[in-house]
Amino acid sequence: MEKHQMGNVSKTDYADPNIDQLLKHTVRNQLESLLKAKLTTAQRQQALTKSFVDAMTLILSTTQATHAQLTAAFEAMYDHALQSMSMADLSEELLTRQYISATGLIMSPQNCRHTIKDIYRIKGYAKGIDKAIRGMLSHKGSITILYPACGPFAPLILPLLSYYKDQNEFNHEQIKVLFVDAHPGAIVTLKQLINDLQLGEFVADIIEEDATIYEPEQAIDLLVLEAMQHGFTREGQLSIAKHLVKFLTLDGWMIPRSVSIKGMMIHGETEYNQQWKDAEYCHSDHLRDSALNERVELGELMRIDKSALLEMTEIELEDDIKVVAANAVTIPTGVEDMSTRILAVYAQINTFDEEGVDQYDSGITHPKPDMSFYVDARPKELEHTHFVANSGDTVQFYYQLSGMPGFVPVKV
Ligand SMILES: C[S@@+](CC[C@H](N)C(=O)[O-])C[C@H]1O[C@@H](n2cnc3c(N)ncnc32)[C@H](O)[C@@H]1O
Repeated sequence: MEKHQMGNVSKTDYADPNIDQLLKHTVRNQLESLLKAKLTTAQRQQALTKSFVDAMTLILSTTQATHAQLTAAFEAMYDHALQSMSMADLSEELLTRQYISATGLIMSPQNCRHTIKDIYRIKGYAKGIDKAIRGMLSHKGSITILYPACGPFAPLILPLLSYYKDQNEFNHEQIKVLFVDAHPGAIVTLKQLINDLQLGEFVADIIEEDATIYEPEQAIDLLVLEAMQHGFTREGQLSIAKHLVKFLTLDGWMIPRSVSIKGMMIHGETEYNQQWKDAEYCHSDHLRDSALNERVELGELMRIDKSALLEMTEIELEDDIKVVAANAVTIPTGVEDMSTRILAVYAQINTFDEEGVDQYDSGITHPKPDMSFYVDARPKELEHTHFVANSGDTVQFYYQLSGMPGFVPVKV
């Protein structure tokens, strides 16, 4: 069969998903180069900065932007950030390598790139961070911000810095940022982006290190962290927060101020399907009363804030598995259809003041179904990963820190 060569990838290799990814990458690179060829570096950087400033102007404005306006602004920011990323010229290995560290998933820059268009996550964080920065700078001459697991685009801080610089609000003598990421591809991309945005003056340092090991030399006023996935699983948010909270000054703040993880017993069809039938997009503003009333809330499984983190004690099990105790909840009695319900775990994030990211506002707060948790029912084939309880039982939740973080229920 005839082969159409593109670099060292051939068309007949399409069936292999890895090769298909590679092919898409090379095609995208070629298209992007074509686009870039028409712009000077200065024009590209100017358009990039403008997209970052525009997105923050919409978010920080006192008049509420529409979803369509926000979507357009965040798409523009994403497109320009991607263009900067392609200038960094990452090897395929740096772009796509993804692995599990001792404390969670280290996502590839390729997969991280979408987080910059997660509108309501960035909105909740940026508004909170902005308020915290203004609060601190009202009585301090300068502050140091630590941003671990910042990813390739550091989207919780870089758009804000672009906005402050554009508006002459705060300068590099008032704000310094320490960026930390374990992935070398994220670091290369980030350096390119900071250079393109001409924000180098705000950088205290860019450090390639595991954030659960890194020890800052200076005192930290603000710790900004988002390394979460839905159901509070997979990524190392808790391990990173627990390690770095110790370096905050006495009056220092962690953003988010608190993360509340809750459990509920639901009917998947109502919660995930019926509820959203007429909604324009998923958001806590569009939750339906009928679906909320159908839920059986189990309560808070864990609350993470500065004081809880400082008090948290690790329990070491065999094979280097570390856990921390979370809350115990009692499964309500008298719910007739309990056996037909599934457990779903969701997060509500308070970033600062009244700002936050509520359930369904972002992928990270989207309720995650747990199909291994059975109440008043038994799986057809019982496996060791299944958990079986009855209404009225008290269940103690632990949180596993190592490998693949997540909750482990245990019957009391
Ligand atoms: C989904 S992105 C992070 C999102 C980013 N905070 C944001 O707001 O868009 C995941 C990034 O966190 C980094 N990361 C995850 N765990 C880490 C750890 N323990 N230490 C340093 N970086 C970590 C990964 O390397 C990856 O670049």
